[in-house]
Amino acid sequence: MYAPQDEVESITKTGKPVVLLLISKPGAYPPKVAETPELYQHLAADPRFRVMHCDPNWLWEIEDDNAPLEIPAVPVTSGLSYEDFLELSDRSRAVTTAVSSFDLAFCRTLKPFPIGYMDRLEELEREVKFVNSPQGISTHLSPNFLPGIASGLTPDLIVTRDMDAAADFIRQHQTVVAKKARSCGGKGVFRIAAQGNEVTLDGLKLERTAFNTVDECLEFLFDLDAAPFQFVRYLPLNHHGDKRVLVVDGETYGAYLRKGPVGSWIHNVSSGGSYRHTTISSREHEIIRKTTPYYHRLGVTTLGYDFLMDDDGQWTLSEINAGNIAGYSLLEELTGEPIYRRLCDFIYQFAPQRIEQQGSGGHDRKWQCLGGRVLPAFPAVPKFAEQS
Ligand SMILES: Nc1ncnc2c1ncn2[C@@H]1O[C@H](COP(=O)(O)OP(=O)(O)O)[C@@H](O)[C@H]1O
Ligand SMILES: [Mg+2]
Repeated sequence: MYAPQDEVESITKTGKPVVLLLISKPGAYPPKVAETPELYQHLAADPRFRVMHCDPNWLWEIEDDNAPLEIPAVPVTSGLSYEDFLELSDRSRAVTTAVSSFDLAFCRTLKPFPIGYMDRLEELEREVKFVNSPQGISTHLSPNFLPGIASGLTPDLIVTRDMDAAADFIRQHQTVVAKKARSCGGKGVFRIAAQGNEVTLDGLKLERTAFNTVDECLEFLFDLDAAPFQFVRYLPLNHHGDKRVLVVDGETYGAYLRKGPVGSWIHNVSSGGSYRHTTISSREHEIIRKTTPYYHRLGVTTLGYDFLMDDDGQWTLSEINAGNIAGYSLLEELTGEPIYRRLCDFIYQFAPQRIEQQGSGGHDRKWQCLGGRVLPAFPAVPKFAEQS
């Protein structure tokens, strides 16, 4: 396990480890989805951090007139085993802690989030800096955000709940993927194929898959979720897999290619996909370079870019995941590089000493890092409408 010996001296000099709040639901992470337990282990073993854990359910215990804000939290100690991780949310050990005593917070809660979860985090954000601003994550999750920042970089897509608009799009492309808002792991994607009077719907855990008309299929689909769906042209070269590129605050960590089991068009690892190391082309770097400034402006730093193969054999942008990103363990396993060390270094350098506040939103604050290093400014970015 990574032990950043070279940093120990600077901590003993300042005597100030970063007090880091990690928010996650341990029971949601079975052993084969061990990314979050591993991140806890790495951070807890790193002497630059004093790590505390909070379960998302505990956030509901904050009283509205509670000032200063206090939340239950438990210390996470070095040498944490997977079994220890599972027991972190054992209520009896949680102590109420002032939110302002944390230097930094990092959420690893899986989607879909409980109702009101993001609002709670936005309240906490007034007191503590987040590795990914909750306000910024909420903006990223709004259905029109991706089309707004990545117009022309993705396959043809629309975001709608309008039956006529969706039906027209399906008739135009014949095969499309409908994506449920706020889902992940391939659990909210549905392939719709319309040929004559045969309309089929293909996805995980569906009660019905054959329909007589596109409208009938859409009625069934819209009953699955109340939010607008994203409809995107189905890419027939999908069988080449889904490339995940990990990016942290504009820095590219590496990429791997996921492929679903034979016959499956869904390539997520959590849906049974295998994975191997892969490269990142200059075109993919360019897409990342064009879009990361928007996330920087939102105060959202940890990103997972997904690329699928377009009809011309080039990888095209499929989606950008933000916040609780999976893949650091896989990349470390595939490359042998110290990916977690790099992530821990980033989190450490990102921890603030507040020198000035501008406005009330966390993402607009100006921060100075521990050790007096100021984060480099990103270039100015055009407004969404100006993006070509
Ligand atoms: N436009 C598309 N054409 C073909 N397959 C797609 C398309 N969009 C998504 N998929 C398939 O669905 C999977 C999940 O889609 P994605 O949008 O990445 O959702 P999630 O957030 O669940 O990962 C992808 O890995 C890919 O296999
Ligand atoms: Mg994906």
